Amino acid sequence: MELSGSKSTGLAGCRGVRLAYGSTIALDDVSFAVEQGETVAVTGPSGCGKTTLLHVLSGLLRPDAGEVYFESEDFSTRSDAARSRLRLTSFGFVLQFGDLVPELTLRENVELPLRVTGTRAPVARRRAEDLLGELGIGDLADRQAGAVSGGQAQRAAVARALVHEPRVVFADEPTGALDSGSGEAVLDCLFAAARERGAAVVMVTHAPEVAERADRVVRMRDGRVLQAVTVR
Ligand SMILES: Nc1ncnc2c1ncn2[C@@H]1O[C@H](COP(=O)(O)OP(=O)(O)O)[C@@H](O)[C@H]1O
Ligand SMILES: [Mg+2]
Repeated sequence: MELSGSKSTGLAGCRGVRLAYGSTIALDDVSFAVEQGETVAVTGPSGCGKTTLLHVLSGLLRPDAGEVYFESEDFSTRSDAARSRLRLTSFGFVLQFGDLVPELTLRENVELPLRVTGTRAPVARRRAEDLLGELGIGDLADRQAGAVSGGQAQRAAVARALVHEPRVVFADEPTGALDSGSGEAVLDCLFAAARERGAAVVMVTHAPEVAERADRVVRMRDGRVLQAVTVR
């Protein structure tokens, strides 16, 4: 990653980012980059700024200082609407257990990112069904999200994060609420489906066995990036 100038070679990232919540400095001069198709784990103790970094990289939070870019374009100063559009079209999200709409079926949940960007219902339906099948839960497509196991719900969340073919998937403790067996299965789904589509993954976790599944591990402490370790 080039550290000077306004352009960068990474697909997405940030440079010299600072962000404070009142007197709490959550991010202190943080630079980070992810390449196309790369999987990166962001790890570190609770409160070190992992979630805040993910929110800055995805445009949910605007930093107090520094640049945030996607495809060489600094979008940190673009409007809320423009950043929102970028999230809808280019990014996918997997949060900790519980962010599917429980009253909707798994298929309807997975269709949502397509429907809000104007994909016609039959097309959205077919893509959602195909992806649920690919992730091994095709038989649960018509089940309400509130009536499946945590691991099954997280697989559906992976499907929802990937169905609109985003360039980057941001995952915040995606297996944090699961037992290790179902956590493994969800990670298998996430990494395989992302690799299949050439999507980059930025995954926050405080679990070393989860972090080591990524191509690269970035460690944080007290709002700073400590080191970037290449795992494989
Ligand atoms: N909305 C908020 N208001 C005030 N402080 C916050 C808020 N969100 C996070 N923080 C603080 O910012 C720091 C970083 O938080 P966070 O990014 O959530 O860390 P992590 O995800 O690594 O646990 C912590 O000290 C946390 O208490
Ligand atoms: Mg967090």
